[in-house]
Amino acid sequence: MKIHISDVMLDELREKIKPYLKHKRYNHTLAVEEEVTCLGGVYLPEDVNRLRAAALLHDITKKLDLSEHLQICKDFDIMVGDQPEREEKLFHSKTAPLIIKENFEGYYDDDILSAVRWHTTGRKGMTVFESLVYLADYIEKTRTFDDCVVLRKYFYDELDKGEYPPIEVLRKTMVMSFDMTISNLIEENGLIDLDTISARNSFVLNDCFTDIIKE
Ligand SMILES: [Fe+2]
Repeated sequence: MKIHISDVMLDELREKIKPYLKHKRYNHTLAVEEEVTCLGGVYLPEDVNRLRAAALLHDITKKLDLSEHLQICKDFDIMVGDQPEREEKLFHSKTAPLIIKENFEGYYDDDILSAVRWHTTGRKGMTVFESLVYLADYIEKTRTFDDCVVLRKYFYDELDKGEYPPIEVLRKTMVMSFDMTISNLIEENGLIDLDTISARNSFVLNDCFTDIIKE
């Protein structure tokens, strides 16, 4: 189901999410909203307000600790792996859609829920909608990590050059983002979620953007 989200609803949502986020995370969230407004203007102009709502909601369970995430998973009968402490960073994208369904009824929308669900690991065959929220989270202007700066510059430079259609620029940028994420995880001796590998491969194979008709 696609819902209509008005500017007034976005104003209300910006207030409603405040108790769920620490100050720094709230500023990041507003920056993701701003970034996705820009990206949406290029790729999905009719969906900009739904993209903005997804941005505002994407990190709403980020401040919970592992035991709180596990309790939510238990309440909603969501399966958890054997070593949840090793994948603690991934839990907020699993629990946020559950909390949206529970506490943000007016914002219940399939694209919003899936964009929030997959904004951390990615997944095979991501839609444009999901990709824009994922990318906005990565390159929003308050991010100062080298990879974020490099990716932001690459994306906007390629878009400006106009050598490739915008959708191809998005695909190439998504490949680069997953390559960076996977390299960092290897360097940190971290676990690589299988969905992240599948996401990367599906962008390499151009088996992605299933929500639009490609040329
Ligand atoms: Fe985020």
